[in-house]
Amino acid sequence: MKTLRYNNDNEMDAIGLGTWKSEPGAVKKAVKHALKIGYRHIDCAAVYGNEKEVGDALKEVFDEGNISRHEVWITSKLWNTNHKEADVKPALEQTLKDLQLDYIDLYLIHWPVAFKPGLEGFPSSDDDFLSLEEVPIKETWEAMVKLKNQSLIKHIGVSNFSKKKLEDLMSKTDVIPEMNQIELHPYLHQEDLVDFCHKQGINLTAFSPLGSQDRTEEMKADDEPSLLENEVVTAIAKKHDASPAQVLIKFHLERNVATIPKSTNEERIQENLDSQKIDLDEEDMKDLKSIDNHYRYVNGKFFETSDGKYSNVYDE
Ligand code: A2P
Repeated sequence: MKTLRYNNDNEMDAIGLGTWKSEPGAVKKAVKHALKIGYRHIDCAAVYGNEKEVGDALKEVFDEGNISRHEVWITSKLWNTNHKEADVKPALEQTLKDLQLDYIDLYLIHWPVAFKPGLEGFPSSDDDFLSLEEVPIKETWEAMVKLKNQSLIKHIGVSNFSKKKLEDLMSKTDVIPEMNQIELHPYLHQEDLVDFCHKQGINLTAFSPLGSQDRTEEMKADDEPSLLENEVVTAIAKKHDASPAQVLIKFHLERNVATIPKSTNEERIQENLDSQKIDLDEEDMKDLKSIDNHYRYVNGKFFETSDGKYSNVYDE
């Protein structure tokens, strides 16, 4: 399996199992199956609402004794309600409790957006947001650094950060984020951001590699193009006797980017892991570049406020 390397030489498998929108009742079985067939990287987040079930799966697998905790890479994410210094550690502690772990391999600030502490669900009015003047990102980051120094987290990073937001954060700290988890796929290459991160030594993970079929209604755009059915993708799949999903996953590995396809279906969990076996050539990558249309499945519009606080969350 291809891995991404961190500064302390820790390595993370480049294909992980995504758990966003993994149905309750199905995610436990999916995680257990994934670990059984060779996945060693599970991507979680408090807001996915299923960390307890993921934790049950991890406990059962570790208790069986064939796979130990240190062989598996677990990522989780700090939700937007917990950006204030006092809320960061309790949020991590809840995640550790739910996942039944005593440390997390990688903890990310989920969005560069702050909600009011205690808010349930998504904001329904401007008052549900806190501005970045009220909770500076430096405050959240420094609280994350402390948790790393306490060895509750091995690595820290961010998610959904633009180049501008990374530069801003990096100008305020000596501790560079080790990861930026962002939406990437052949419709959204984000070449500048990818190059910037790689030059700065920031690893990248691509979410929604298959186009996130199961995103919420609000996140769907009317003109939704389907990556899995795109002609260029299906032609490359045919050429390599692979599935379109496998092309979409391998695309990231060729770019030195990790990816976390979500599935709760055992065959597709296996199919996604087997993506590593196909070899995309330069021409395939060039063809995949040609279909970049800057399309986002997660368009960030759900952070729009009437005062424009977060109306351009991706800075583009
Ligand atoms: P399922 O869980 O039933 O397999 P993304 O990771 O981009 O968010 O995409 C996840 C969506 O893609 C889910 O709806 C998932 O459904 C589906 N999916 C996962 N793996 C595959 C695959 N190999 N082929 C087709 N669809 C897939």
